[in-house]
Order: sequence, then C-alpha cells, then structure tokens
Amino acid sequence: MLNVSVLGYGTVGSGVVEVLTTNRESIAKKAGQEINVKYILDLRDFPGDPHEDKVVHDFNTIVNDADVQIVVETMGGVKPAYDFVKACLEAGKSVCTSNKELVAKHGAELLAIAKEKSINFFFEASVGGGIPVIRPMVQCLNGDVIEEISGILNGTTNYILSKMTTEGSDFDSVLKDAQDKGYAERNPEADVEGYDACRKIAILTSLAYGKQVDYEDIYTEGITKITDVDIKYAKALGAAIKIFGSSKKVGEHIYAKVAPVMINNAHPLYSVNDVFNGIFVKGNMVGDVMFYGSGAGKLPTASAVVADVVEAAKNLHTNIPVIWDSEKLILTDIKDASQRFFVRLSGSAAENADKVARIFGKVQVVDAGVTEEYAFITDEVKECEFTSKAEELGNVVSRIRVDF
Ligand code: HSE
Repeated sequence: MLNVSVLGYGTVGSGVVEVLTTNRESIAKKAGQEINVKYILDLRDFPGDPHEDKVVHDFNTIVNDADVQIVVETMGGVKPAYDFVKACLEAGKSVCTSNKELVAKHGAELLAIAKEKSINFFFEASVGGGIPVIRPMVQCLNGDVIEEISGILNGTTNYILSKMTTEGSDFDSVLKDAQDKGYAERNPEADVEGYDACRKIAILTSLAYGKQVDYEDIYTEGITKITDVDIKYAKALGAAIKIFGSSKKVGEHIYAKVAPVMINNAHPLYSVNDVFNGIFVKGNMVGDVMFYGSGAGKLPTASAVVADVVEAAKNLHTNIPVIWDSEKLILTDIKDASQRFFVRLSGSAAENADKVARIFGKVQVVDAGVTEEYAFITDEVKECEFTSKAEELGNVVSRIRVDF
C-alpha cells in the first residue's frame, strides 16, 4: 500500500479524495498497489466528512512522515504552496499539483529538485483541467518542433463569450449570471483580465521550448472591453470571438500573447464553447493536433491529478525527465508580429471611407447594421504599425485581432 497526502481540501483537493475513493480498485490495478489517503492538510475542520479523521493542521505531520511517498498539492497560489511543495520534494516525496501559478513561476526549479532526488513533480491538471495536454506535450510530441500553440485555456471567459454570442447579452450581465451559477469567481479578475490564461500559456510555452517563459513577459489583454456590438459584427462575419493564449515560432522568434481573437468556422477551436477548453498545437512533423475537454471543475481536474498520482506510484524512485531549464526564453515583442485587425470607427461610411483607404489601403468593410459606425478588417499589418495607424484615425471604438 502506498500513502498519499493532500494539501488543501477545497474543490480540487476533495475531488482528488473522491476520485481515489470511488475508483479505488481500478486505480490500485493501474498503480500496482492500493493508494491510501493518509492525511489531508487544511486550516479548517470538516465535521461529518467521511475523511474528517485524516484532517491535520500542521504541515510538519506530513513532511516528516516517511510513510507518505506522494503529496498532492491543491491549495492554489504561490504562498505557502511553494514552500510546502519544495519541502516535500526535498524530503523525497513526489508531488502532483493542479496549481498553475506555482508551476508557471517555479516549475523549472521544482523539476530540478525532483530530478536530483529521483522522484517526480507532475502537474497535468495545471493546464486544461481534465484534458491530457502536459504529458502529450512532454512525451508524445517530442519528435516535433512546436510551431504554434493556440488555446482556449480559461473556462470562465469561454462561458462568458459563448453566452454573449448565443444570447446577445452584454458582458456585465453574463458575468453576473456566471457568478450566480458558480462558474465565475466572486473576484473574476484573474479570469476576465486574462491572467489565468497567461500562466497556462507560459507553462505550455516553457515545455514546448524547454526554457523558462516568465509570464510577466507575455502581452496579456482580457475580455472586459468586448461588447455585445463586437459580437454582433462577429456574427455578421460568420465568426466567433474567443480569448486565446497563444505562442508562435516564426523563424527564430517566439511570440506569446493572451488576447481576444475573431476566428471563423475554419478554425479548429471555433466549436469550443461554454466552459470547455480546447488547445490546438502545430508541430513541424505531426501537423495539427487538438486537445478538448473540461478545463475546470472538481472531478475533471481531480481526474488529472489522480492520473499523476498513478504515474508517480508507478515510478516511485525513478525520475521521468521533463526538459524545462531555468534559463529564460527571450520572447520577441509582439509589436513586431503581423496580424489582421477588425476595427470599429465612430461616424458614417461617408465620414470614414476615404481616411481609412488613405491610411490602411484596401480593407474589407463589415456591415452588421450598426448605425453611425464604420467597421472593417485590415490586411496583415505589424502590431506597432497598426497602433500608429489607429492613432492617426483618431476615432477607433474598438479593435480585435483576426485569425482568418
Ligand atoms: N478559473 C479557471 C477557469 C479555473 O475558469 O478556467 C481552471 O484553471
């Protein structure tokens, strides 16, 4: 029998215990031995919970117990998760985590400790919740040079944009509805401002290129400025507005960003709606690969953590190497990347058409029946050139990147 301890008995942590309990027999077969939850660390008590006798409040009980071989970290945040995870790894315990902030910031260091100790640091659930994407990235796609990763990496914002599209509602009322239904946090900033997706694309890009991508270096734009009128234009184009976390290799340059983008039904992520996540990867040999499923939620996320526990159990004293050096990957500033833009201007066509033609040349005019506005899509233009041309226009209501 192998002993596991869980740090944090919130949504995901309790899901991990539930998955280990519900699927105990099949997990034992796959792991080669029974997996027992020995301790659950939380600040709170859980009277009446079937596992209340396992709850402890002192981390030292776990880190100092030589019978605990695997630790699950589902606390979230960097403090104190980082100190706890590092101490567990240094004590020779493999760690499986769902914590994207921790992995994005300290992944390289924690992997190095795991390697030195011949144990494992696994984090399948940190990106895409229950979707298998980390292990495919670090194992199955090793024959490829990754040319592109584009992901709908945040369930909350995908739900909001999907509802704005199907119901024609504005951002604020859909956000409130999402909060009432428990999809969006009371403080939704990390989701709607794109910070959550930014951590996730930082992790995927670090794994794709084997070096540290600092999430602070990634251009990040959320969905708070997307309006029901933008959605109306997207519909007129047969397009959808999504928020992508993406990285692209163009020659020796690697660009990464989080931003809303218009895609049409030719894009593989067009049909990824509601709280689902989808991740599109392009390799230079395999071509296009897609990953789709539940990117958040108690049991999907717990399922990925438990798969890591099984993998850790099967490789108790063997490190499975993951190439992620602490050396920083220098991203190229996206101002040098080329992109098409959808642009809305205030005023009529008569007031704007000549000016737009002079500044942008030939454009694709978009008519969604919105009065006193002139909207168009540019040809590919460098981001920095677009910024100065938009300033020259002087009456931009909104602009959204276009990927078709
Ligand atoms: N807030 C995140 C989301 C949870 O909405 O996708 C999963 O990381």
